[in-house]
Amino acid sequence: MGNRTLAILKPDCVEKNLIGEVISKITGAGFKVLGMKMVRLTKDSAGGFYEIHKDKPFFNDLIDYMTSGPCVPVALEKENAVEDFRKLIGATNPENAEEGTIRKLYAESIERNIIHGSDSDENAAKEIAHFFTRKELLEINGF
Ligand code: RTP
Ligand code: MG
Repeated sequence: MGNRTLAILKPDCVEKNLIGEVISKITGAGFKVLGMKMVRLTKDSAGGFYEIHKDKPFFNDLIDYMTSGPCVPVALEKENAVEDFRKLIGATNPENAEEGTIRKLYAESIERNIIHGSDSDENAAKEIAHFFTRKELLEINGF
C-alpha cells in the first residue's frame, strides 16, 4: 500500500475559481500537500501523461481540454493515498459520482470533470515524476 498520489486540478477547476475549495476538500480529508504548481500543459506533455488513452475515441478532446488553460498538479501524501483519493474525487462521470465527492459537487460532465487522481501506486510514482523531480520534493519538504 503506497502513501502518495498525484492530483491535477484540471483547467475547468482553475477557470471556475475552485482551486481553494478543492484544495480545502483534499486537506480536510487528511491529505498532506507535498508539492503544488500551476502549469500550462503542452500537447506533448498532456499526450504523454494520458498516453494510455491514446487510442480512445475521446483522446483528442481530452488533450484539447487539458491544454485549454492552466492546471495545478499536486503531489499528495496519506496512508492508502491512491484508493482514498479516488474515493474522495468520485466516479469519472459526475452523474455516477457519490454525494459529497469532489466530482459530484463541482464537475459538469464526464469530460470536464475538475480533477485527476492516479489509479495505482505505480502510476502515482510515474505521474508525480512527470511534474516534480525527486530533488525538488526533497528540497521543498526537507526530508
Ligand atoms: P483521470 O485519469 O483524469 O483521473 O480520470 P479517470 O481515471 O476517472 O478516467 P479515465 O478513464 O482515466 O479518463 C481520463 C479522462 O478522460 C476524460 N474522459 N472523457 N468522453 C468520455 O467518454 C471520456 N471518458 C473519459 C475525462 O476527463 C477523464 O477524467
Ligand atoms: Mg485515469
